[in-house]
Amino acid sequence: NLGIINIPVYVHVIYSNSQENISDNQINSQISVLNNDFRASNNDVNQVPSEFSGLVADSEINFTLAGTFRHSNSRTSWGTNDAMKAAYPPVSPSTHLNVWVCNIGGGILGYAQFPGGSSSTDGVVISPQYFGTTGYVSAPFNKGRTATHEVGHYLNLRHIWGDGNCRRDDFVSDTPSSDGPNYGCPSYPTVNCRSNDMTMNYMDYTDDACMYMFSEGQKSRMRSIFASGGPRAAMAN
Ligand code: ARG
Ligand code: ZN
Ligand code: CA
Repeated sequence: NLGIINIPVYVHVIYSNSQENISDNQINSQISVLNNDFRASNNDVNQVPSEFSGLVADSEINFTLAGTFRHSNSRTSWGTNDAMKAAYPPVSPSTHLNVWVCNIGGGILGYAQFPGGSSSTDGVVISPQYFGTTGYVSAPFNKGRTATHEVGHYLNLRHIWGDGNCRRDDFVSDTPSSDGPNYGCPSYPTVNCRSNDMTMNYMDYTDDACMYMFSEGQKSRMRSIFASGGPRAAMAN
């Protein structure tokens, strides 16, 4: 047992206008959401239906802001091909989560790299208007859950529907299978693949206000990457 794992976070803010140069308050609001969501101390966890409430996990992972880097750049949209990471490389990615906050464009909220990839592109990218809960934020993605979702990928979680049909797995046994993403704010129960979907899981595609749990199976999948020999073992020292 590794106990509580603390992940230090570097935030790279890349801005082409003053709105995108988000405030320290906005950055801190996102760190708070990550801590609440990964410790199951989010104030909406009580909305989990009883069918799934026994599966709610405190992942025992927490996050500390280790530094913020601010870069003015005339580029107004950065896409998803890691151009921002080439321009502003990650700092100590084997021990730190690097987050680039810059306008991705194309309506994309964020994207992440799974563990085991190149260290030169390791981390997550989030558009500023979907980062944190205060300042330059845009409903219904203004509750900081894009970062929760992307950090879930960074810690090896797949989408809850396994990115495929009912037989496609997310490699987590306690998350019910589904055949595709759910959007908006689905009512309970939402039935697919002959069982109720866990639409309130952070790894679905619902609105920020409608996702509020990781499962115990997701917790074990995340924590196994920190074990000795695992792809993020250096983070748990
Ligand atoms: N579409 C993005 C992805 O697949 C993020 C989805 C985040 N959802 C949210 N409610 N903030 O990684
Ligand atoms: Zn995703
Ligand atoms: Ca599953």
